[in-house]
Amino acid sequence: METLKGLKRSNYCSTLRITDIDKEVTLMGWIQKSRNLGGLIFADIRDTSGLCQVVFDININKELFEKAETLGSEYVVAVKGIVKERQAKNPNIETGDIEIIANELRILNTSETPPIYIKDDDDVSESLRLKYRYLDLRKPKMQNNLKMRHKVCQIVRNFLSDENFVEIETPVLAKPTPEGARDYLVPSRVNPGNFYGLPQSPQLFKQLLMVSGMDRYFQIVKCFRDEDLRADRQPEFTQIDCEMSFVEMEDVMQVMEKLIQKVFKETINVDVALPLQRMTYKEAMDRFGSDKPDLRFGFEIKDLSPIVQKCGFSVFENALESGGSVRAINVNGYESQFTRKNITELENVAKLFGAKGLAWMKITGEGISSPIAKFMTEETINNIISSMDAKAGDLILFVADKNTVVFNALGHVRIEAAKKLDIIDKDAFNFLYVTEFPLFEFDEEENRYFSMHHPFTSPLDEDFDKFESDPGSMRAKAYDMVLNGVELGGGSIRIYDSNVQSTMFKALGFSEEEAQNQFGFLLDAFKYGTPPHGGLAFGLDRIMMLLLNLESIREVIAFPKNQNAVCPLTNAPGKADPKSLEELNIKFEI
Ligand code: AMO
Ligand code: AMP
Repeated sequence: METLKGLKRSNYCSTLRITDIDKEVTLMGWIQKSRNLGGLIFADIRDTSGLCQVVFDININKELFEKAETLGSEYVVAVKGIVKERQAKNPNIETGDIEIIANELRILNTSETPPIYIKDDDDVSESLRLKYRYLDLRKPKMQNNLKMRHKVCQIVRNFLSDENFVEIETPVLAKPTPEGARDYLVPSRVNPGNFYGLPQSPQLFKQLLMVSGMDRYFQIVKCFRDEDLRADRQPEFTQIDCEMSFVEMEDVMQVMEKLIQKVFKETINVDVALPLQRMTYKEAMDRFGSDKPDLRFGFEIKDLSPIVQKCGFSVFENALESGGSVRAINVNGYESQFTRKNITELENVAKLFGAKGLAWMKITGEGISSPIAKFMTEETINNIISSMDAKAGDLILFVADKNTVVFNALGHVRIEAAKKLDIIDKDAFNFLYVTEFPLFEFDEEENRYFSMHHPFTSPLDEDFDKFESDPGSMRAKAYDMVLNGVELGGGSIRIYDSNVQSTMFKALGFSEEEAQNQFGFLLDAFKYGTPPHGGLAFGLDRIMMLLLNLESIREVIAFPKNQNAVCPLTNAPGKADPKSLEELNIKFEI
């Protein structure tokens, strides 16, 4: 193996241009490919910047040519040579006008045949990509993803610093949290039987920093949640976490939308118009069946309950009688694109989200085609058609159930239909803020209220007196920023009064003792002059995924976990050795 002794890189591979002709340069990188055309070898060298072609000519230097003959894929080399204009130009790469005529080659390292190709369009399985992540990350696209992430962090740091936010680190070994997702627990050796919880977010610490008078805090910070994983969820993920003192909702929302505007402008040159649209939670649910509506297409939900009350179709009537609703979307203009089989596929989506079925009605040139039309009078059918603004060529899809199921099912059917039709504009960025979230959601299994955001979120001023009389109707000073159907970030104005916070814990079913045990430090802190405060946290991984138009946040995380929360590269999590467990006083009984 050769060394770099006496050699210094003069340029990154992709930086050389026709203006560099006749310069002597030294490049270092990996062999992307090497073609031997008899007396000439063309080798593409790749580094983090891109590619450059190097030529070894037997007639110029036979010994060098013979050395170049040994080059294989992913060998690590340093090449010295003279920049020359290419005979056959390659417009597909930045350095396509030039090539390097080599006069020195050092083989710094060899490589076994890599198990995956180092090229963007390699379509091997994700598990193989994750196992060999260090090779996967050599791909230009992956390098770009990570660099873009770095750039976003720079923009965020600069913007927030200019706005007087101070970056402060908070503990990773924290207290387990009783609310929210499941914690990752870390046993304490020096305190046998006790556990740290890895933070699901720095929520309480950032609030304490406001009590401390830090005024504005931010942190680009790892958060840990042991929850079921999806394309936009990882067990450890990164938040851009912010908190501000002496602010109301609009103050937070306005700074945060300015931050996002700057990020999108300076990375992908997309202009985000401010202020972002504000939509109440109720409107989002009523129209889109989701608190993170994708506004890039229509098919909005309409409530048909008033006109199907006595429609003759027992499924609809029963749903209404038991307090539910009948709602529908109009997949307008696409009737002919949905066969029975396609509709069954959509019905399966509806069922996945709790619906018992998905009734449908096609308005065709020849009349109505629908399995439920036979139950209904012509008048009801006409009322449905006019309520849904339907015309020939439209397909109406109905769900009847309790409201939560209707919204959830139709909300997902709406998205599935648009995906199947491939009508979603991939270049559109439809942002909005969803506001006026309910303060609580009721969990029927546990028969108690949970915080919709978290227990530190303040109710709206006008709902303050409903803690006892009607908690279910209380709205929160909470807001989510949503982009193209994905929740980018969420936050709220916090409770800053010790008594109100205690009332909140009570409403959540905590006994006074439990509240004191879990959150006594916060309740205490609130007694010593706490300013009004609020904040928001963005999911950095999600911002990156959407910015780069990717399907999964795993594409923007250097070393992500797979769907089973396993790192296929290192095989974490692993077994702990018995001695460590003994020291931790942990015994397994399996
Ligand atoms: P929240 O729980 O809404 O709020 O989280 C904020 C944002 O973090 C992102 N996010 C995730 N990203 C990837 N994988 C996950 N498992 C995951 N979970 C959440 C989302 C989400 O919008 N402390 C509060 C914020 C506040 O009130 O200021 C909080 O954590 O993009
Ligand atoms: P059935 O009478 O059960 O065959 O149902 C007739 C049609 O109504 C089918 O297309 C079912 O998918 C649909 N359907 C059944 N239950 C519901 C429901 N709760 N909401 C909407 N459609 C339903």
